[in-house]
Amino acid sequence: MDKQRSRPAQLKQIGVVHSRYRTKKDAPSQGRHRREECTLEIFEEYEPGLLDIEKCSHLIVLYWQHESRRDIVRTKTPWGPEIHGVFATRSPNRPNPIGFCVVDLLERKGRLLKVKGMDALDGSPIIDIKPYSRLDCIPDSRIAWRDRDLQKEG
Ligand SMILES: C[S@@+](CC[C@H](N)C(=O)[O-])C[C@H]1O[C@@H](n2cnc3c(N)ncnc32)[C@H](O)[C@@H]1O
Repeated sequence: MDKQRSRPAQLKQIGVVHSRYRTKKDAPSQGRHRREECTLEIFEEYEPGLLDIEKCSHLIVLYWQHESRRDIVRTKTPWGPEIHGVFATRSPNRPNPIGFCVVDLLERKGRLLKVKGMDALDGSPIIDIKPYSRLDCIPDSRIAWRDRDLQKEG
C-alpha cells in the first residue's frame, strides 16, 4: 500500500490549447455542443504521434486545468446547492485537475489540430489525445443527482 502511495505520477505536456477563453468565466462548463473552434498545438517532439490522427473524426482531449485548486474533494456544482464528492462531478477543482473533452477534429495542419468542443482556457497544457470511439458511447448512462434536476427543469 505504502509503495503505491509514494509512486509519483510523471506527466509530460505534449502541447498547448489556443482558445478564445481568457478567464474561467469565459469558458463554457462543457464545450461539447459549443460552436467555438480552437487550436491544439502539439509540440514538435510529439508530432510523430499524430500519424493517422486525421483519420479520426472525434478525439478525446485530456488537458491540465492549471488554474484550478487541488485541495478540494467536496464541492457544489452549477446544478444546485447540494454538496457532492468531486469524483462524482466534472468540477475543474480536484486533486488532479484533468479536463476531459470529446471534440470534433475539423482540420489538421502539421502539428496544429483545429477542433470544436473544447472548454479549456487559452494556454492550458495538453497531456494526452486519444481517438473517441463508438465503444465509448453509453446512451443509457446516468448521473442520478444531476439528471433529477434536469428533469425538474423540464
Ligand atoms: C466544468 S470544467 C469541465 C472540463 C471538462 N469538459 C471535463 O468534463 O472534465 C470546465 C471549466 O473549467 C474551467 N477551466 C478551463 N480551463 C481551465 C484551466 N486551465 N484551469 C482552471 N480552470 C479551467 C473553466 O471555468 C470551464 O468552464
